[in-house]
Amino acid sequence: MKRIGIIGLGEYFPDKVLTNQDLEKMVDTSDEWITTRTGIKQRRIVKEGQATSDLAIKASKSALKEANISAQDLDLIIVATITPDMQFPSVSCLVQKALGAKKVACFDISAACAGFVYGIAIAQQFLANSFYKNALVVGAEVLSSITDWKDRNTCVLFGDGAGAAVLSEVKRGGILSVYLGSDGSFADLLKVPAGGSRYPATHQTVDNRLHYIKMQGNEVFKFAVKYMTESAQIALNKAGLSCEDVDCFIPHQANLRILLAVAKKLGLAKDKIYLNIEKYGNISSASTATALCEAVKEKRIKRGDIVVLDAFGAGFVWGACVIEW
Ligand code: ACO
Repeated sequence: MKRIGIIGLGEYFPDKVLTNQDLEKMVDTSDEWITTRTGIKQRRIVKEGQATSDLAIKASKSALKEANISAQDLDLIIVATITPDMQFPSVSCLVQKALGAKKVACFDISAACAGFVYGIAIAQQFLANSFYKNALVVGAEVLSSITDWKDRNTCVLFGDGAGAAVLSEVKRGGILSVYLGSDGSFADLLKVPAGGSRYPATHQTVDNRLHYIKMQGNEVFKFAVKYMTESAQIALNKAGLSCEDVDCFIPHQANLRILLAVAKKLGLAKDKIYLNIEKYGNISSASTATALCEAVKEKRIKRGDIVVLDAFGAGFVWGACVIEW
């Protein structure tokens, strides 16, 4: 099998900043509660009319530029999102048109916060088997569109943004291992109940606020710690490595307390974990993508480093990926 690696990264965040102080005016909460319970200080929110594809397109253009390839060179576009512009067509088709990528296959995947890791795993298979040469994987979300701004249990957590990666064959390093997992028995703990075929939109579903994220935070917290820890261990094991070999750990930025608990269980020093949750909150599939992009930009990752992407989300789904940079 060919060695496949990431040859370009990009990210995009909308300009509007929503701070904890802004949220204090919207629901019964405080900067102190949000900061100590989640580690989040602010998040980015789209302006009216801005959709997931708008963010995805901007992040994708940056990733292509960094990879130094044109959209014509792409064979595959995968967009991971739980907040598509509309039910169909896919966000990936809207990205394809905007980029002018002529000969690509494209589809969206729904793997919530683990979407980017799932996308990387899928793209790697297509490229390693020589089916395709260059792939674009995007994690993009407008979570503000499914956030109940009257529910203090959830509205303090989420934000909007997009991250993108171009994958291709590399001469050295690259993706060393991938591990993916799931357990649908916990589907009810974190979901948007209505708007699909089970409960299509009606006046009643809207009145009952069923088009917004519903989460049993406490339960989700425990499973996130368990499965993110296990995912990283299994992926490292598959790569023939241990936690001591990790130079930079890029977890899904769900909650600072979750990330610190995972790092502690893995025996990782705090300076090996990349954190940007303070600035952006939880942006689901865009989280690991943008964290990786920023860690590289800030030179927290250098050539030859062992990087672990680790994510967990609604479904439940989880996964990790070990990359030699
Ligand atoms: N401000 C003030 N008080 C609040 C707020 C708030 N924003 N939210 C909840 N509280 C209150 C609760 O009402 C409760 O009060 P009570 O004791 O009087 O009932 C108290 O604070 C404690 O609530 P808990 O839910 O127990 O708080 P917890 O410490 O568990 O933190 C949180 C809640 C932040 C949601 C946490 O459980 C969490 O991060 N869970 C995991 C989220 C996650 O990882 N999601 C996965 C990915 S998301 C995706 O896939 C889209």
